[in-house]
Amino acid sequence: MKVLVVGSGGREHALVWKIAQSPRVGKIYCAPGNAGIAQMAECLSISAEDVKGLTAWAEKEKIDLTVVGPEAPLTLGMVDVFRARGLRVFGPSQKGAEIEGSKAFTKELMKKYGIPTGESETFTDPAAAIKYIKGKGAPLVVKADGLAAGKGVIICRTVEEALSALDLILVQKAFGAAGAKVVVEEFLEGEEASFLAFTDGETVLPLPTSQDHKAIYDNDQGPNTGGMGAYSPAPVVTEKVHREAMEKIMIPTVRGMAREGKKYQGVLYAGLMIKDEKPKVLEFNARFGDPEAQPLLMRMKGDLIPVLEATIDGKLSHHKMELEDRSSVCVVLASGGYPGPYEKGKVISGLQEAARVRDAFVFHAGTALKEGKVVTNGGRVLGVTALGNGIQEAIERAYEAVAKISWEGAYYRKDIGHKALARNGRD
Ligand code: AMP
Ligand code: GLY
Repeated sequence: MKVLVVGSGGREHALVWKIAQSPRVGKIYCAPGNAGIAQMAECLSISAEDVKGLTAWAEKEKIDLTVVGPEAPLTLGMVDVFRARGLRVFGPSQKGAEIEGSKAFTKELMKKYGIPTGESETFTDPAAAIKYIKGKGAPLVVKADGLAAGKGVIICRTVEEALSALDLILVQKAFGAAGAKVVVEEFLEGEEASFLAFTDGETVLPLPTSQDHKAIYDNDQGPNTGGMGAYSPAPVVTEKVHREAMEKIMIPTVRGMAREGKKYQGVLYAGLMIKDEKPKVLEFNARFGDPEAQPLLMRMKGDLIPVLEATIDGKLSHHKMELEDRSSVCVVLASGGYPGPYEKGKVISGLQEAARVRDAFVFHAGTALKEGKVVTNGGRVLGVTALGNGIQEAIERAYEAVAKISWEGAYYRKDIGHKALARNGRD
């Protein structure tokens, strides 16, 4: 069969890598892809957000299955347009993707169905929001309603910070239309985890647990990024937390979405804050996480195609997922300066040496080919991912491979996975 993967990040490289292992797949295309993806798929110069262009291309090429990686095309309704043309596609509909596309909608959904989350109110009127913020006091979290490339969530330690965040979003419109509404939320303490599951709209089939590292510097210091590394499994998700996450969060959310006329099919990703073994939802994403997809897909045994098909066809209740017992760790290598401004076009060396490290794989994100050389082309550049017997060994292997790679200004966190080590030691 012919498969198209939409997107160009580390997540999409991991999807292409996993799909390429399926005996049923003959040819893979990726739009637009990156230098790593180009080694295993044909990359197209069509933007991931060009819904019309991609539909026309997939129709002409008779693509058997399309997998949409990032949130933007999902919220633009790419899945609906593909389906309307009779093309098979993996991902939620536009209505389903609202769970990520509108924080105001999702907070309302969680209130209605009793899904545990921080207390919040949504505002369009600055005066009402100011009154609420002053009444609540700090700390608070101020969030733009819509997609803001991960920048629309502002943690506010004081009332003054909350008022200026409100002004930035609602009055100055720093995030454009995404900030037409603002959610003011209770600040939640605890440890975060990513809980991802396949769902066909009824059955929820969880992937292994994982944890992201959002801050740019070690020990979770500095501004948030798209994610500087991830590992799986995440020991903070104990059996009890897992059960609660399924029974109180994932299943009621999928049922709630169906009842609201927004039947959700695809990967549902809950960002959880866990305290005293009680998970609360920080956000939902309508897709695989990036970088979580890299360690998660490395831990999935067997063919990915049948689970994608069962999700599309509403047959997940018949499906079993086979998992690797070993742990996995992904260390993201970024351009110096990220998440602020950074330079592109730096020649990357050591990729072949890194690839020779046992059970390690280098997933590409912001890379391009220039005159036969792999160069940096984005903020997050590579996701070096490794399997190991236990988190400690996976960390060692990942960093062994990382040490082989260099370019001018390359930056990575040195403490990926350390929270799991600390927790394993405590238990
Ligand atoms: P979100 O995109 O809503 O998950 O927010 C991005 C990041 O901001 C999360 O991964 C958390 O680290 C942090 N965050 C969001 N909401 C809260 C909250 N209510 N309390 C504490 N931290 C939060
Ligand atoms: N790693 C966070 C995300 O994919 O949104």
